[in-house]
Amino acid sequence: MFSKYKKSSAPADKADEATEASNVTKIQEAAPAAAPSKVARKQAQPAAAAPVDKETKRKQRMSEIKLELHRSLLDNLNLAALEHATEQDLRQEINTIAVEVLAEKSIVLNREDRLNLNSELYDEVTGLGPLETLLKDESVNDILVNGPQQIFVERSGKLELTDITFKDEKHLLRIIDKIVSAVGRRVDESNPYVDARLKDGSRFNAMVPPVAVDGSLVSIRKFKKDKLGIDDLVNFGAFTEEMAAYLQAAVATRLNIIVSGGTGSGKTTTLNALSSFIDNAERILTIEDTAELQLQQTHVGRMESRPPNVEGKGEVSPRDCLKNALRMRPDRIIVGETRGEEVIDMLQAMNTGHDGSMTTIHANSARDGVSRLENMIAMAGIEMPLKAVRSQISSAVNLIVQASRLQDGSRRMTSITEITGMEGDVISMQEIFRYQRVGLTPDNKIIGHFTATGVRSHYAERFRMWGYDLPASIYEPIAAE
Ligand SMILES: Nc1ncnc2c1ncn2[C@@H]1O[C@H](COP(=O)(O)OP(=O)(O)OP(=O)(O)O)[C@@H](O)[C@H]1O
Ligand SMILES: [Mg+2]
Repeated sequence: MFSKYKKSSAPADKADEATEASNVTKIQEAAPAAAPSKVARKQAQPAAAAPVDKETKRKQRMSEIKLELHRSLLDNLNLAALEHATEQDLRQEINTIAVEVLAEKSIVLNREDRLNLNSELYDEVTGLGPLETLLKDESVNDILVNGPQQIFVERSGKLELTDITFKDEKHLLRIIDKIVSAVGRRVDESNPYVDARLKDGSRFNAMVPPVAVDGSLVSIRKFKKDKLGIDDLVNFGAFTEEMAAYLQAAVATRLNIIVSGGTGSGKTTTLNALSSFIDNAERILTIEDTAELQLQQTHVGRMESRPPNVEGKGEVSPRDCLKNALRMRPDRIIVGETRGEEVIDMLQAMNTGHDGSMTTIHANSARDGVSRLENMIAMAGIEMPLKAVRSQISSAVNLIVQASRLQDGSRRMTSITEITGMEGDVISMQEIFRYQRVGLTPDNKIIGHFTATGVRSHYAERFRMWGYDLPASIYEPIAAE
């Protein structure tokens, strides 16, 4: 069949096919070896062994066919011409070649398998190959690749091993390369790790061998088009209606807020949800490493810091962005994550008229968060007595909200703590709400509830003056059962 995207050169020679075939066999051998550990860990599943077997065989067969077809496609397609092909043309083309190869090898597939195969091949040629299905899967939050044969995903806070694999390290590297070269970056032995943003907004990080010992490591935080809002988070049990009312008052009355939490604990999600309490009339400037925030307000200026390029030039640090932002007449500044010397400018901004600013930090508790801030200031080379540093922090930061991912995968706001000033050399804090754990169900779900601590907010009067007259009852603790 004639094809305008076909290479003029002859198809792959027999020797190539032979290596390919031996690769296929190797992978076939490798796959079942990895499988038992998956099954062994999921104790709930052994009863369904027979149908799984059949399904696994079917998948294996499909993946062999796919490998062969993929190879034929790459051999037959003129990749340069492909750049200008329309999606329809390309799909048609893939279909044509697939039909030819299937016929040649006398492989018969049902319609559904054929359509799936075509769309996987399309992803392979244009997109991110095996990762594409996971990127499209709405229930997946994170994708974590540990070398070509192991891909984990996170669903509802829990990690799961998938049965998706790359053909080999070369295949994985090709996909990584495709992603990073699309954003003008490079990754190789001398630049072994890279951060990038995918076309759909997802955050991407890769580290390649030899620094990554067992094959390339890739982490993707999927971009959610519809970020979880306050109501969603209340419905999911991340915090209560009362806490939401308190947070609304805190944001609206322009308290400076830090969202603290571990990795993947929901900091950015919380920050984004909190921002929904900002008045639509305000001018908000956001600064992030990878633009993730989705603010609903009309007047938003978004900035993304930039790492140095391959020659080590062109860096625009978060601090540069922040300094510049202060000249851009912001009403509020939101910094996606404070982790370095930008802390100085952030605290200064919070102290000097840009109240109502927000950021996140990596820390496990409010106290720990304050120590992190102290450390960041010390690391930035600011020579100030500790007391002065603390006094600066205590007058800049009003509230620390702790986001946590608990061991059962649930994400909760485990504490809301106010900073109330200094007592001697120590920053004084008071916790207003907390998540009280009481136990564990037999299937390892955490039992607990949110409660106020009984302490009235230091800012209650401020809230009242601004028209957020919270009832005293929200500060009353829930009696323990
Ligand atoms: N309360 C929640 N319930 C369910 N899913 C949540 C909740 N909070 C956050 N998530 C999901 O968890 C994932 C991680 O959230 P998020 O990006 O906010 O974490 P993070 O702390 O900012 O992570 P990182 O440290 O990597 O920046 C996202 O996919 C998000 O949609
Ligand atoms: Mg984040």
